[in-house]
Amino acid sequence: MQDQLNALKLEAIQIVEKAVDEGAVENAEIKYIGRKGELTSMLKQLAHVDASERPIIGALANAIKQDIEAAIIQRRMQLEDEKMGALGERERVDITEPGVRIEQGHMHVVTHAVNEITDIFEKIGFSRTRHPEIDWDYFAFESLNMPADHPARDEWETFFMDAPVSMRGRMVMTPHTSNAQVREMQKGVLPIRMINIAKCYRRQSDVSHVPMFHQFEGLYVDTDVSITHLRGILDYFVKEFFGSDRVTRLRPFHFRFTEPSFEIDISCGACGGSGADHDGVKCKICKRGWLELGGAGMVHPAVLKAGGIDAKKYSGFAFGWGVERTCIMRGLKIDDLRILYKNDLRFLKQF
Ligand code: DAH
Repeated sequence: MQDQLNALKLEAIQIVEKAVDEGAVENAEIKYIGRKGELTSMLKQLAHVDASERPIIGALANAIKQDIEAAIIQRRMQLEDEKMGALGERERVDITEPGVRIEQGHMHVVTHAVNEITDIFEKIGFSRTRHPEIDWDYFAFESLNMPADHPARDEWETFFMDAPVSMRGRMVMTPHTSNAQVREMQKGVLPIRMINIAKCYRRQSDVSHVPMFHQFEGLYVDTDVSITHLRGILDYFVKEFFGSDRVTRLRPFHFRFTEPSFEIDISCGACGGSGADHDGVKCKICKRGWLELGGAGMVHPAVLKAGGIDAKKYSGFAFGWGVERTCIMRGLKIDDLRILYKNDLRFLKQF
């Protein structure tokens, strides 16, 4: 029986050492030293062995079991090492290899304009604010003196949100930046010198309209603010942004949230405001010497009231218009506004 045991040991250790993977090691483990393995079944014959020899054979069987176990542990470690070695080889990084250059982008032409407009106004003490671009009807219309069902609202081709209605009405995707006016007033800090530049949305899409665009809204509220201040600020902006030779004019208009209201024109850069070229032919750009920039006016007392401001003590002016439009008026030559947001790198890389 001792020979049989020794033969079993030799066979088992040989098989374990040759095992090619963990599965093979496990099979050998079960086969030789498992509960129903060969060593166990051999030991069952111990009953037939002479009583005096039993302790010796028992001790031998134990020693053999330990040897086989040791061989199994060793083989397992070897296999693990081989696996890690192969992994290391496969995933080795050659740090001397030249890297892949990350393409460097740059800001969008409209973002450049937004930053430039911000800088121009910050120089004279205005601060850029942030207000929601999805807002309640109350801030977008109602508080701006445009009650529900007022026909003036039709001009703002509004997207409504599919969201629950609150005391402040429905939620809209802001069709203009004027929603910031009453929001800013309600902060309760005076004077206000706000420049709010944000995304706006309207249900329009054609060569001169995109459903998402940007506007900037100026608001100045203090004691004794007059139209003269509005003119001064507009002149300053126009000279900074378009050039020192440009001048503005205010044309009477109507907005529900300003009284009086104006449209602001700037002198045409092509004909210098004359409306004609050297030979007296009508200017092709403007036809009449002026280009329309946007809306402005003195803040309506009803709007000040909605903002919690005493209209007898304070007054203010506001203005607002589109960033994209302003870029085009300065000379950005595109024949379809929608190209700005098509993510076409051939176009965007030019700026
Ligand atoms: N919110 C107006 C629009 O989108 C523009 C505007 C007009 C803004 C007059 C003003 C303003 O602040 O005083 O057409």
